[in-house]
This record gives sequence, structure tokens and C-alpha cells, in this order.
Amino acid sequence: MIRNIYVFGATSKIAEETIKHFAKESANFYLVGRDIDKLGIVSKDLLARGANKVELETCNALDWEKHPATVDKADNSIGQLDLIFIAHGTLPVNEDIRNNQMKVIEEFNINCTSIISLCTVASDYFEKKGKGTIAVISSVAGERGRQSNFIYGSAKGGVTKYLEGLRNRLFEKGIKVITIKPGMVDTPMTKDFKKGLLFASPSRVGKEIYKGIKIGRDVMYVPGYWKIIMGIIKSIPESIFKKLKL
Ligand SMILES: NC(=O)c1ccc[n+]([C@@H]2O[C@H](COP(=O)([O-])OP(=O)(O)OC[C@H]3O[C@@H](n4cnc5c(N)ncnc54)[C@H](OP(=O)(O)O)[C@@H]3O)[C@@H](O)[C@H]2O)c1
Repeated sequence: MIRNIYVFGATSKIAEETIKHFAKESANFYLVGRDIDKLGIVSKDLLARGANKVELETCNALDWEKHPATVDKADNSIGQLDLIFIAHGTLPVNEDIRNNQMKVIEEFNINCTSIISLCTVASDYFEKKGKGTIAVISSVAGERGRQSNFIYGSAKGGVTKYLEGLRNRLFEKGIKVITIKPGMVDTPMTKDFKKGLLFASPSRVGKEIYKGIKIGRDVMYVPGYWKIIMGIIKSIPESIFKKLKL
């Protein structure tokens, strides 16, 4: 049973649309994000939907020395955690930053290093408790490097590979590690994108993630059709793929 939930990046639209389903089951939440006002709005909504308790904390993902304390404080305020859900991320315009060394490092740190930092804290926490679930939003963008988004994509690819190994390590200890790979979702992150047929609504994606976490799936493509799309993209030989403008 998932009752006590820690969320990093709790103001993410996809996270919001996921955790609102747990609120209906009277869950307790510890929400971490950068902006206390935005966290307050999420908190109000969760309480209105039936959440039992919601506590808030501000932390920038790049302040990784603060990550362990956020989990300790969550445990102290809402009780032993059942789920640590990591959702934050940024989607840079590849062309704007690709030759800017410091910007590339910063984007990689937000989308990969900070997530590995949080997962390290989460796995240590759950190993000591002997149970728990770590769910992380990666992306289909991590499946294959493309010229239009290889900085974001390689960071997500790093997360996906890291989670694969972590799942393998924690399996026998009864700790679940869930990799979530959304395709294109209509959220603030993609506000400047032209919305085509493949775009999914955050509510659909959130509901599917909620169900996947409840079932305890290892890897989920959301919506599911992205598994087929990425299967095709991954099957293209590199000698051809490198010539495509994707
Ligand atoms: N939307 C898509 O098409 C799509 C597709 C695949 C994967 N994803 C992934 O899904 C996750 C959620 O994205 P979303 O679509 O829900 O976008 P979103 O609504 O724009 O949410 C992004 C979240 O990341 C937080 N964030 C960014 N930089 C941060 C930092 N340095 N420290 C702490 N928090 C930070 C933002 O906080 P603020 O509210 O303070 O800005 C916001 O909560 C991300 O990991 C994203 O990469 C999204």
C-alpha cells in the first residue's frame, strides 16, 4: 500500500496529474520543489481531493548536498516513506546551448546528475527500511541520440541506464525501481511546441503513471504506443540513422 509519498519536482504538471490519484486514497505527501507559491497551489489541490497531510519544502535539484536532508525531513514529518517519486526536468533548445560548455553541463546536471543523487539517497533510505518504491520520470528521448535534442536525450539516457542497474541491484531486497518514459506531453515544458497527433494530455499520462506505480511495473512507456515508435526508431541501422534529420 502506498500511503506516504515524497515527490521531488512536485510542481511538474505530469507529477501533479499523477499524485492527485493518490490524494483520493488519503495519502500523505512531502512535496519538494523550487517555488513555495507553486507548491502551495499543488498542496491545496491535493487536500481538496482528499489528501490526509501535505508538507512542503523548497530545494533546487542542483543543491544536491541538501537532498539527504529532504528525505530525512519527509520521514520525520509524514512517517516512513512508501514512494519516492522524482519528476523534475528541463528541456533546453539543443541548438541554443550545444556550444555553450557551462550551459550543457548545467542541463546535464539537472536532468541526470541530480536525479542520480536523489536515487542514491532514496535507495539508501529504502534499503535501511527494507521496502519501498522509487519511481523516476525519464523520457523516450533517452532511447536514441538525435541531433535535435541530444543534450536532454543523453541526460535521460543516463538516467534510464542508471535505473536499469539500480533495479537489478535492489530487486532481491524487495525495493521497486520504476522507469517512466513519457513521449510528448502537453505541459509547460512543451508550451512552444506545435501540438501534433502524438501529443498526449497530462491527465492521461498522469493516470497511466499512477496505475503503473500501483501495479509496480519496471518500465513504462506513456502512452503505450511510444514503445512501438521507439522500437522502430531503435531498429534503424546507425549508418542510415546518422543521415536522417531528426
Ligand atoms: N512534457 C513532455 O513532453 C515530457 C516528455 C518526456 C519526459 N518528460 C519529463 O517529465 C518530467 C516532468 O515534466 P513536465 O512535462 O511535467 O514539465 P513541467 O510541468 O515544466 O515541470 C518541470 C518541473 O521541473 C522543475 N524543475 C526544473 N528545474 C529544476 C531545478 N533546477 N530544481 C528543481 N526543480 C526543477 C520545475 O520546477 P518549477 O515549477 O519551479 O519551474 C517543474 O516542477 C521531466 O522530467 C521531463 O523531462 C516530459
